[in-house]
Amino acid sequence: MPENEIASKWNSHEVVGKPTNRVDGPLKVTGSAMYSSDYHFPGMLYAVPVFATIAEGTIQSMDTSVAEKMPGVKAVYHRGNIGKLFRVTPNKDMTMKTDELRPPFEDDTIRYYGQYVAVAVAETLEQANAAAEAVKVSYAAKAPNVSTNLSDAKMKVDHQRGDANAAFSAAEHKIDESYETPVFVHSAIELHATVAVYENGNFTLYETTQAISNHRNVMAQILGVEPENVKVISKFLGSGFGGKLWPWTHCALAAASARNLGRPVKLVISRKMAFHATGHRPVIQQRVKLAASKDGKLTALIHEHTNHMGMLDNYKENCGEATKYFYSCPNVLVSSGLTKRNVGSPTSMRGPGAVPGLWATESAMDELAIKLGIDPVQLRIVNEPTKDEGLDIPFASRHLIDCYKLGAEKFGWKDRNPEVGSMTKDGLVLGWGTAGAAWIAERLPATASVELRQDGTAKVACGTQDIGTGTYTILAQIVAEELQLPLQKVEVVLGDTSLPQGPLSGGSMVTGSLIPAVTQACSKLTDALLSAASSSPFSPYSGVDAKELKYSHGMIHRKEEPEQNGIAFDKFLQKCNFNNFVGSGTSAGTFGGGKPKESKHSYGAHFIEITWQPETARLRVNRVVTVIDAGRILNPKAGRNQVEGSIAMGIGMAMLEGARYEPTKGAPINSNFADYILPVNLDVPHLDVHFLERENTDLNSYGARGIGEIGLAGVASAIANAVYHATGKRIRQLPIRIEDLLT
Ligand code: MOS
Repeated sequence: MPENEIASKWNSHEVVGKPTNRVDGPLKVTGSAMYSSDYHFPGMLYAVPVFATIAEGTIQSMDTSVAEKMPGVKAVYHRGNIGKLFRVTPNKDMTMKTDELRPPFEDDTIRYYGQYVAVAVAETLEQANAAAEAVKVSYAAKAPNVSTNLSDAKMKVDHQRGDANAAFSAAEHKIDESYETPVFVHSAIELHATVAVYENGNFTLYETTQAISNHRNVMAQILGVEPENVKVISKFLGSGFGGKLWPWTHCALAAASARNLGRPVKLVISRKMAFHATGHRPVIQQRVKLAASKDGKLTALIHEHTNHMGMLDNYKENCGEATKYFYSCPNVLVSSGLTKRNVGSPTSMRGPGAVPGLWATESAMDELAIKLGIDPVQLRIVNEPTKDEGLDIPFASRHLIDCYKLGAEKFGWKDRNPEVGSMTKDGLVLGWGTAGAAWIAERLPATASVELRQDGTAKVACGTQDIGTGTYTILAQIVAEELQLPLQKVEVVLGDTSLPQGPLSGGSMVTGSLIPAVTQACSKLTDALLSAASSSPFSPYSGVDAKELKYSHGMIHRKEEPEQNGIAFDKFLQKCNFNNFVGSGTSAGTFGGGKPKESKHSYGAHFIEITWQPETARLRVNRVVTVIDAGRILNPKAGRNQVEGSIAMGIGMAMLEGARYEPTKGAPINSNFADYILPVNLDVPHLDVHFLERENTDLNSYGARGIGEIGLAGVASAIANAVYHATGKRIRQLPIRIEDLLT
């Protein structure tokens, strides 16, 4: 579509693009939104897992006799009595995926601290807790390996163009630095929970999941039943950040307990357990070598990255994802390595790969800018590519430099004095830093159905889920737009595997994936409606060619007559004795589909001011300007909220977070919110978020790309770069600690 046509189409939109309140807001603020652990059923029991207190070794013996005799206890399950639990067949499919590759209780070997060894089930939560504590387990422990030194990893080449090593050796201006990030834990407010109901061979699982279909398929395999015997419900999620993408071992414990006892079972893990066995971003070590000409043009870019895995997974953090296309450079080498540690399985965490990758490369670019005496924004301009040089294909839509330009203007970057410690205000040293962001723009396969009903309402149904990002609201907006109905007339039904299969909520792909399916469903629906209007015996337009008819704002009318002369669809349905009209639509996926014709990503730039008070060693993020290039923003309120949340997470990543494993027992020792420090409101200043809404309809007709994860990319580097500017200390190991700034 030519740009002016898209622009005029956008300007005519009535609902899409407006800062709409959350349609599910009232349910949430009144506490009536049903999260998984809110479900209660008659006769429901409570399950509490018992976890290993060693990280490497075997179970020697387990005594459950005391626990079993305690009041209210129905069972204590372990390897010997839980019944058969199967492995998920090896596959590369995101509709049948777990990170930990074996079911719970498969053998007596302990691979990480917190691995479940038993589960106590009782009439009340207190009784189950007491019973779990009374289970006595003795272990033959070995020394665990939880070392954060990953130099034992074997490296392999992921991407190569030109001769990066030769170009680097020959270069006059270069940097060669290493960057490290600790374990970051997703820390969603809502804890992982399963309420499992088993009746007549069928499981209904109320789950905290970002992927209901995957969850059903995986649980069917683990439980040894057919997928049609498993129904998964996830109506509301208190965030996931990747930690709820794939099922974890506790899910099977709840389901198997419900099956064995024939009663509903609720299992909510503790905050401590959420540090053990529900994923984390792994320890990552990266080395970045950059070489450039005197004017900053990159001549070599070498990016090595290594991450730990657990013993039972093969999780790779793909840190080089953005490295391949972010800058123009003839000689690029990306390599990666993996090594196993006695830790629970790592998993995707918001912006997997690109976020830690850009932390390293965007810090290195700042170091290069300083070395060459070039402004960091200018260095980006000099190295802006005209195509995706990694895949040798054109960019679909890339406006990174415009993000920098707008951000610099809003921030006042031209007033920056690059000299370290030179900028002060109110007795504080100011540091100004910038960094870029990128994230994939892809689609997953999706189906959706849209209905018009006798009561004058519409309904859209899709087996995806709203993980807190606003999917209910966005879908209501799209359907209201397409069917030209008021937003309040649209009901959105999600989070149930009996609905048409929708995408998992990951990779910031849901909105982009749903638009083609939902717009197609709406157009099929109105076609069916007009065709029925021309053919139904009781229709006022019976016998009129459907081509002469039109649907506008809920009215069926002749094309040449004004819509108010027509008949409202609800009146038409009533008159013709139809209960409803349904249209369904599908969209094909693009993600993982081989080499694309165009390189599709979103981009962004952050400008961050920190304040440093050396006398009291006080470091604060003071000001943030972020510009995001993610195409059309369907709902500026929900969109800004996503980016703001990401920036807050970036402040945590840069300055506060990091789980530490104690070396003798292998336990994550700061496994609580007093010791694993997350940013709170006082750590987060006003965030000035802007969107560059450049037209591009390659991903879908609305021109909308994902905005969940992009906001996190680059934040930590912009902060570290600002810290250097204020203090002269280059911090390459996150989180930045004040003690690092005092030495
Ligand atoms: Mo996201 S880490 O794909 O939930």
